[in-house]
Amino acid sequence: MAENILEVDNVVKHYPVTQGVLFKKTIGQVKAVDGVSFALRAGETLGIVGESGCGKSTLSRVLMNLERPTSGLVRYRGRDISTLRGRGLKRMRRQIQLVMQDPYTSLNPRMTVGDLIGEPFEIHTEVAPKGSRRRKVQELLELVGLNPEHLNRYPHQFSGGQRQRIGIARALALKPEIVVCDEPVSALDVSIQAQVMNLLEKLQNELGLAYIFIAHDLSVVRHLSDRVGVMYLGKLVELGTDEEIYERPTHPYTQALLSAVPVPDPTVREHKQIIRLTGDVPSPANPPSGCRFRTRCWKAQDLCAEQEPLLTTRARTDHPSACHYAEIREIVATHEG
Ligand SMILES: Nc1ncnc2c1ncn2[C@@H]1O[C@H](COP(=O)(O)OP(=O)(O)O)[C@@H](O)[C@H]1O
Ligand SMILES: [Mg+2]
Repeated sequence: MAENILEVDNVVKHYPVTQGVLFKKTIGQVKAVDGVSFALRAGETLGIVGESGCGKSTLSRVLMNLERPTSGLVRYRGRDISTLRGRGLKRMRRQIQLVMQDPYTSLNPRMTVGDLIGEPFEIHTEVAPKGSRRRKVQELLELVGLNPEHLNRYPHQFSGGQRQRIGIARALALKPEIVVCDEPVSALDVSIQAQVMNLLEKLQNELGLAYIFIAHDLSVVRHLSDRVGVMYLGKLVELGTDEEIYERPTHPYTQALLSAVPVPDPTVREHKQIIRLTGDVPSPANPPSGCRFRTRCWKAQDLCAEQEPLLTTRARTDHPSACHYAEIREIVATHEG
């Protein structure tokens, strides 16, 4: 099994909620990420899935060392990233890159594509000495399926899908080891999404990248992920291999998410039980006691309000799940009937 290159150890990120204009008073905390742990192995894809607002982007910013966690830590190759300085920090910044959700706002409109993709070389001059930059940028454009002659164009001259390719080329410029993809296809037309997903898969195979692939929908990450973590209100509620999550989910939330994934095959669709979640996601500033999912859960008992379920493997499960009553539920597969 490949080594762990990134370790996330009980990461918490709270944001203060303030009141007043002149004299800001902290009246609470938004618990955006509230105790998340997992490890990423070299070359693997870990999908992180959860509804909007559950803390995925906050987690990605902490992983990238763009924000300090309130508590807990992230280790890159064994070293706490918050303690890195100088060359160590520079190396980490080179090795972990981010592809953002919105290709329309994440690229500076006043910079040419050549300058956008070549910008990381300004800081990391060792990767591409000045004389070789133009060629490097052209190689990167080709790598992501864009015309290498277009390096003097501006972002607005490209379509959404092409802009996301530019964002990907920029993320790859420094030959990173890990790429965090924060909903990289959510803002794109459905017809374009598969092309960008295929590109990301191809690049992983060619370059041996490890991905943390964030999405709000389980169906998006299925094809690409080796393992999947499901998030709810700042916490990981289930973590397993592709097969464990999609075929034998144990947390009621995962089961509900999967039941909502459309099935193209009509005979399977008939057998499929849809679990409809009632109620809205509670506010992360005021999460329910005990299990955060209990207010929407059909299995909830008194225990769920009293005791927080830990993410662990239980008697009736074969992988970690944060539910007192976790139980494998076989998902109706195509061979049914
Ligand atoms: N800088 C911030 N200040 C205050 N609250 C924030 C900040 N960033 C995110 N949040 C809050 O944290 C929660 C999680 O947000 P986010 O990480 O963006 O979720 P996701 O990416 O899963 O949609 C949300 O309630 C959001 O409003
Ligand atoms: Mg987000």
